[in-house]
Amino acid sequence: MKVVHTVTGMRALRHDATAQGLTVGFVPTMGALHAGHLSLVREARRRAQLVVVSIFVNPLQFGPNEDYGQYPRTLEKDCALLEPAGADVVFAPSSEEMYPKGATTIVDVEDLGMKLDGGSRPGHFRGVATVVSKLFHIVQPTWAVFGQKDAAQVAVLRRMVHDLNMDLELVVAPIARESDGLALSSRNAYLSVAERRQALVLHRALMAVEQLAATGETRAGQLRQCALQVLATEPAAKLDYLEIVDPDTLDAVAETLHGALVAVAAWFGPTRLIDNLLLPVR
Ligand code: PAJ
Repeated sequence: MKVVHTVTGMRALRHDATAQGLTVGFVPTMGALHAGHLSLVREARRRAQLVVVSIFVNPLQFGPNEDYGQYPRTLEKDCALLEPAGADVVFAPSSEEMYPKGATTIVDVEDLGMKLDGGSRPGHFRGVATVVSKLFHIVQPTWAVFGQKDAAQVAVLRRMVHDLNMDLELVVAPIARESDGLALSSRNAYLSVAERRQALVLHRALMAVEQLAATGETRAGQLRQCALQVLATEPAAKLDYLEIVDPDTLDAVAETLHGALVAVAAWFGPTRLIDNLLLPVR
């Protein structure tokens, strides 16, 4: 497994892959890797001949009062996990390498980028779209693999790939969870033992919605009430949003007959966690 820190180095590897006619699978991450990230790497491995993973804590997608400074940076440990998972190349640029002085171009997926997490974290998806579009230009993947865990990110990036005619296929992998249901997240490391227990309410609320939907309930209002009731059982959870939306447009739906995304975000102490459930077309 090669670890490269420069755009020039990454491009040289991509040129070699092109010369050899290799397909490329790409998994962009911010590091502090867990089994959820590794499941994306394995998905890339199943498809592609060369697997590239980027590790870059992107300053552009953090708000001024968010956890950019605090975000865990564990490159050596990450590389030790990536090699057995099947990565061939780790691209780990510095902030200066990705954003040289004077860089001013941004990619903004208007409207969609303001919904769900984009509403709670202004500018977040502009940062995500900008860095992912730069990474796509550098790595030029055949497939890029993202997690369903960040459902709004998937919607924003799908739209970006479509609108900007990017020549790659976006692949979405399911949410990896702990055995008790908590969705894996690099931010789970911030949780105290008590907060970790409180955070399970997110999965419980989504499970309750899934069960109610399985009885044939398709009214979004009823499903939303059901989730809110479960969330209310954990007073320590400070709800940010709970919405039932179209997974592509992120607009609220009244009916879930044609499939829907149930998305939730809540604070547990200083830590904001997200989770979601895709309701299938009935
Ligand atoms: P990060 O939070 O490190 O996540 C990297 C990828 O791992 C994303 O596609 C995310 O959806 C996926 N992921 C995280 N937790 C997961 C889980 N429990 N199950 C399955 N997949 C999971 O998302 C980002 O980084 C950044 O915004 C990035 C796209 C790298 C741009 O900076």
